[in-house]
Amino acid sequence: MLQGALTDWWGGQGGEAGGQQRRLLLPRLFLQHFSETSFYVERATALRAFLIGFLSQSDPETAYIHFVAVHPEEQRGGLGSALYRRFFDVARGHGRSRVRAITSPANRNSIAYHTRMGFRIEPGDRTEDGVGVCTDYDGPGLDRVSFVREL
Ligand SMILES: CC(C)(COP(=O)(O)OP(=O)(O)OC[C@H]1O[C@@H](n2cnc3c(N)ncnc32)[C@H](O)[C@@H]1OP(=O)(O)O)[C@@H](O)C(=O)NCCC(=O)NCCS
Repeated sequence: MLQGALTDWWGGQGGEAGGQQRRLLLPRLFLQHFSETSFYVERATALRAFLIGFLSQSDPETAYIHFVAVHPEEQRGGLGSALYRRFFDVARGHGRSRVRAITSPANRNSIAYHTRMGFRIEPGDRTEDGVGVCTDYDGPGLDRVSFVREL
């Protein structure tokens, strides 16, 4: 079910290569080993939204949101922010004082959403349409926008 969401819920962003890239970003280990900090919304057994997050092992102040998505029919309906609020509460409960996340510079919706959710965009090494971008952040050609929010 998640694999289908990773293919379809981004509005075809990046074409088939984009879908494949997203599917590879969510191997089974995330579902097995981060279940206490990952949340799913289902209606009549159909997946409508999910958030995959974890508590950093290396930085005891930080929690990290790896993936979030809402079914296209439900976007802008409050599910994304509800999942984020739940994650923030759990992270606070574990003594975390900041949350981090990244997205690709092409994902303007994600940038708008994270900004609205109180995240700051880190400067990066260049700007694109006024947004700080970290070139090759995840490897050659894989630029990312980096977000941080205090809790
Ligand atoms: C990004 C995403 C998770 C947001 O979830 P959502 O349920 O649509 O967001 P919400 O309805 O909870 O919106 C929360 C706030 O962000 C704002 N917002 C959400 N999407 C926005 C957009 N595209 N542009 C501007 N503001 C936006 C909302 O207006 C709302 O603000 P408000 O509190 O002032 O009303 C969802 O649109 C999505 O799944 N997109 C495709 C997948 C994706 O890009 N994931 C993120 C990168 S991994």
